Amino acid sequence: TQKKRVLSMIQPTGTFTLGNYLGALKNFVRLQDDYECVYALADLHAITVRQEPAAFRKNILEAYALMLAIGIDLKRSVFFIQSQVAEHAQLAWVLNCYTQFGELSRMTQFKDKSQKHADNINAGLFTYPCLMAADILLYQADYVPIGADQKQHLELARNVAERFNGLYSPTFTVPDPIIAKHGARVMSLQDPTKKMSKSDENANGFITVLDDPDTIMRKFKRAVTDSEACVRFAEGKDGVNNLMGIYSSITGRSMEEIEREFDGKGYGDFKPAVAEAVIEELRPIQERYRNLIADKAYLEQCYRENAPKAQAIARRTLSKVMKKIGY
Ligand code: ADP
Ligand code: NA
Repeated sequence: TQKKRVLSMIQPTGTFTLGNYLGALKNFVRLQDDYECVYALADLHAITVRQEPAAFRKNILEAYALMLAIGIDLKRSVFFIQSQVAEHAQLAWVLNCYTQFGELSRMTQFKDKSQKHADNINAGLFTYPCLMAADILLYQADYVPIGADQKQHLELARNVAERFNGLYSPTFTVPDPIIAKHGARVMSLQDPTKKMSKSDENANGFITVLDDPDTIMRKFKRAVTDSEACVRFAEGKDGVNNLMGIYSSITGRSMEEIEREFDGKGYGDFKPAVAEAVIEELRPIQERYRNLIADKAYLEQCYRENAPKAQAIARRTLSKVMKKIGY
């Protein structure tokens, strides 16, 4: 039987955090075992916020290298750069015309982002969900792994797909979400009530995938905990719960196992152990990354070979769509 297809994209807008890695990227790697995966860097989405051209170009290349270093396997998966497959913008235009102003107005992420970027509330920010729908529907994806914050956008993609299928005849596969477990949410090391994010003003709040071992150790040692000095998973222990969640997701140990491991020990033992686990998890990734980023010719060859692979699938869908509309 044919494998189901998974589609996922990530924006190449700079550093990836440990949150991005444990909450999304590590899962991209695992999904390759069970699905036919299509991955891309969503660089068209990135320009809904102003980008500095040289930094943007560099971020795209670095994100491509990092994803390969993390384990995106080009023998099994397609991994391309969105802007290199023109069909995304073409289908997005079509879907704009099949999506209502009212539907887009209800998107909570638009409301949040237009508050955050009040000086640049552009039309792209508003119709972003139509481009995301195009990204997914072009590949007839069965599943889309998403964080809770993207649920509403995926629902819109499903609605638009069903609407188009209903108006004409079955054209698009209606995609189902794969929603990350609650525990997959990594919180700030300095304020464990907020999610870990690179936009945190406090650089000690987040770990990046490329942080060196000393930095990782230092940030974990400074992580906010509590005065109980006891490693247990419980309400009101947000800082410790977060560290346990990170340790659990790397080692595969359950919370009970972690509690037993650190029974009778304090945070002075626990924090460095979490840091060590993260350092060892990231070490081979960082090493592969350093080799990849030093070989620009190889990276360029990879993305140049992958764009036409994606485009071959995207074209089939787009040409069906155009015919049905009457072109
Ligand atoms: P966006 O929300 O625009 O996709 P982000 O950089 O916030 O961009 O997130 C990229 C991916 O990483 C998403 O799948 C998101 O759910 C996941 N992610 C981001 N921050 C965290 C976090 N702290 N914990 C777990 N997953 C996260
Ligand atoms: Na997010």
